[in-house]
Amino acid sequence: MTSNLNGRTALVTGSTDGIGAAVARTLAAAGAHVVISGRDTARGEKVAAGIAERGGRADFVRADLSTGAGVRDLAAAAHRLAGGPLDILVNNAAMLLNPTPTADVAEEVIDGALAVNVKAAFLLTGLTAPAMAERGGGAIVNLGSISGLFGSGGSALYSTTKAAIHSLTKSWADEYGPSGVRVNTVAPGPTFTDKVAEMADHLAPLIATLPSRRPSTPEEVAKAVLFLVGDDAANIHGATLSVDGGRSAI
Ligand SMILES: NC(=O)c1ccc[n+]([C@@H]2O[C@H](COP(=O)([O-])OP(=O)(O)OC[C@H]3O[C@@H](n4cnc5c(N)ncnc54)[C@H](OP(=O)(O)O)[C@@H]3O)[C@@H](O)[C@H]2O)c1
Repeated sequence: MTSNLNGRTALVTGSTDGIGAAVARTLAAAGAHVVISGRDTARGEKVAAGIAERGGRADFVRADLSTGAGVRDLAAAAHRLAGGPLDILVNNAAMLLNPTPTADVAEEVIDGALAVNVKAAFLLTGLTAPAMAERGGGAIVNLGSISGLFGSGGSALYSTTKAAIHSLTKSWADEYGPSGVRVNTVAPGPTFTDKVAEMADHLAPLIATLPSRRPSTPEEVAKAVLFLVGDDAANIHGATLSVDGGRSAI
């Protein structure tokens, strides 16, 4: 696998923690200048410092993606740091939601999840992909989920936001592909970030059904992102790469 990202700038949303932080570290290790973002400055600066300690290049930009203004500010800052169009955008930030019966989901939670999980990716892609297209190329990876592929009682809201992401990838592949901008989805199954590992007992029944019989690591998900943004994936558009221990196969 080539995965030489020297000279490319990547914006990874939600990279102060979890899968996004692993993606940021992985893209930086492949040579990319990575723009890390999220709301938590202390965690974001720590991820950036860790990358710098390993000889990589990273900048943290604080961003709250629950508002359009926050998304626009992040896009402007990332373009400034890149010195022009971004080469890579990873739409990763999302609110993970505890299972809740539909009737009990508060309206502000619905609005918040749709804003962060769907609207932010929609706006950010609109703010970055046209400049990539004008320059003649770029790569966008959206983080979907097995939750976006299957029905799941108690997780209707989260599943809906992830299904929207899967749909957006296909529409954007069609919209931007002719201009050289590739858009793909990485769809994780249960992935043991520090936060998700705390729910290990709750996830055990699901994990027991996986062909692999184990959760993914954030680094395994990050490697799928690395493949899709790199030149080895040059003719892959609109695809979903599942990193789910085989859940989507059964
Ligand atoms: N972990 C899994 O098992 C799993 C499975 C399938 C799919 N996924 C998908 O993978 C992606 C990453 O999940 P994860 O488990 O790594 O989540 P996570 O550990 O909760 O991290 C979420 C990231 O999003 C950021 N974020 C949340 N709300 C934000 C907001 N309003 N504005 C800006 N940033 C915000 C957080 O940063 P701050 O806290 O600093 O704001 C954090 O960096 C998500 O798209 C998720 O749907 C995860």
